[in-house]
Amino acid sequence: MSSPAPSTLKEIYPVPAATRENTLCTDKDYETLYQWSVEDPEGFWRRQKDRISWFEDPGLIKNTSFEGDVSIKWFEDGTLNASYNCIDRHLDKHGDEIALIFEGDDPSVDQNVTYRELHGHVCRFANVLKAQGVKKGDRVTIYMPMILDTVYAMLACARIGAVHSVVFGGFSSEAIAGRLDDCQSRFVITTDEGLRGGRKIPLKANVDDAIARLASEFGGSVDKVLVVRHTGGDVAFNADRDVWYHEAAETVDADCPPEPMNAEDPLFILYTSGSTGQPKGVLHTTGGYMVYTSMTHEYIFDYKPGEVYWCTADVGWITGHSYIVYGPLANRATSLVFEGVPSYPDASRFWQIVDKHQVNIFYTAPTAIRALMREGDDLVKKSSRSSLRLLGSVGEPINPEAWNWYHNVVGDARCPIVDTWWQTETGGVLITPLPGATDLKPGSATRPFFGIRPALVDTDGNLLDGATEGNLVMLDSWPGQMRTVYGDHERFIQTYFSTYKGMYFTGDGCRRDEDDYYWITGRVDDVINVSGHRMGTAEIESALVAHDLVSEAAVVGYPHDLKGQGIYAYVTCNAGVEPTDELRKELVKWVRAEIGPIASPDMIQFAPGLPKTRSGKIMRRILRKIAENEFGSLGDTSTLADPSIVDILIENRQNK
Ligand code: PRX
Repeated sequence: MSSPAPSTLKEIYPVPAATRENTLCTDKDYETLYQWSVEDPEGFWRRQKDRISWFEDPGLIKNTSFEGDVSIKWFEDGTLNASYNCIDRHLDKHGDEIALIFEGDDPSVDQNVTYRELHGHVCRFANVLKAQGVKKGDRVTIYMPMILDTVYAMLACARIGAVHSVVFGGFSSEAIAGRLDDCQSRFVITTDEGLRGGRKIPLKANVDDAIARLASEFGGSVDKVLVVRHTGGDVAFNADRDVWYHEAAETVDADCPPEPMNAEDPLFILYTSGSTGQPKGVLHTTGGYMVYTSMTHEYIFDYKPGEVYWCTADVGWITGHSYIVYGPLANRATSLVFEGVPSYPDASRFWQIVDKHQVNIFYTAPTAIRALMREGDDLVKKSSRSSLRLLGSVGEPINPEAWNWYHNVVGDARCPIVDTWWQTETGGVLITPLPGATDLKPGSATRPFFGIRPALVDTDGNLLDGATEGNLVMLDSWPGQMRTVYGDHERFIQTYFSTYKGMYFTGDGCRRDEDDYYWITGRVDDVINVSGHRMGTAEIESALVAHDLVSEAAVVGYPHDLKGQGIYAYVTCNAGVEPTDELRKELVKWVRAEIGPIASPDMIQFAPGLPKTRSGKIMRRILRKIAENEFGSLGDTSTLADPSIVDILIENRQNK
């Protein structure tokens, strides 16, 4: 590779003059606004709410408590509609501007959709949902590829006050079934098939299988499955339940008035993994989420209407919700939706798309950057990329080598990089540079966004001052914060507000340097971050032990060149079962079927037993060290019920 070695990496990258001259927010603005936002949140957010159009203007601004029962309400007496904010309010003067650019998996397929066209598509979709019996407050599960209809489906739900639950297209039918059951969703929207890297993904077939599992495992059922025709592939059709979208759309009206929603009415549920149990339904509501995503999108990407903005995430994740759909469209952005993968037809696809659609702002994940970096600079350099002016990173800590390459090769040392730290639970970005205000330090998410009060605590919850390292908490609420775990408020309190009283615990470790810059060090709980996707180790373990031949399993993360972290599974088989390579393959297949390909173990080590304390608790610290090949620093093993097991595990690890 011809890019400079990481040793040439500078410590600080000042705001480029060109960015400073034409920015929404300079360093001075940042200081003033930030002070205002934390000293007078009521006043600050009273002003900011006006970036959104309200049917009834809220008089009440902030009513939040992290104590006791934990109650988070923003703008609670206001009414609005998210789809109105993303579409209708732009129509008068800007209806002919481009809202969405679609780039297909096949490079010859693309499409531009204006705000007026978007209005038509979403209204029709909303009327189809109504005609199928969907009502305000109903949960609608969306299992779709990265196509425009997916955006229409989400906005159509928002338009009629239905609550969408998007399930990432890479999840298995078992995972869909669990999510359908958890939120008692009786409607599913899907396509015949998805298309990724030239391969077809059987989405409708997965939904059929999920509904069969829903019946057999949970005793549940679904009223309607709305199927959007995409590839034209053959699918099984159940005439009582399945409806072709294109047929239903012919019979409905082209206009659908937006339903007035209270600010605290649910907008969507999105499932995410935690350190215990099954995925949690993270619930976001309407008013605060819209204010926060539109504000963060505008300031962090320094967005000006007319610019082409591309976030490469999938709408199955929070990044897609907040920064492909709701934030950008509320800001009248042109947002690019890409169906395919970075490596198809070849590894220069991203840069070809940047040139083809003259992308100005590009937002992706470190795992993609590392994968493309590996392919060499030539594939990048054969594109111009002269339209780019800002780069973004999200999902996991970005290592200096990847930062350097992103900056020098992709951005031609010209474009600032915003390293945005946030979570499904936070709704929008909390810690990030602002391109015109913040000098960059590679690998640091830098400073808090407006209204955000991060703090570091030790394991006893004592606040730590100055340059130090600790667990990252938030001391106060912000409008985009999740409101509850769907159907389980107690779990919400337990998960986020019980570790440190009166504070929101992020689950991340973090260092703060002498300039008050924040450096996320990774999860401190039993969650691993695989290619920027969050996986609960408990979830993978329960999938493994559900296999007939497995008696016990423990899963940990270990450093992985491309994925950031890989999945390392220790598996104990039932007595008499021969641990073979065949079984290893079978278990990988099993986990893929139980959760999805993203949960495939990278390594499976058969273990005659697991290191446990005398009270039976698995010592994960030791398993992590062995997986990391760090046998010298195992710490105290004398408290183990059977210390000899450690030697066996090390020996087996070394023999691999
Ligand atoms: O560990 C942090 C990591 O991703 C986790 C949140 O995952 P998820 O809810 O799936 O949302 C991902 C996209 C917002 C965090 O707890 N993370 C996210 N962004 C960064 C990050 N770690 C370091 N730097 C980031 N920029």
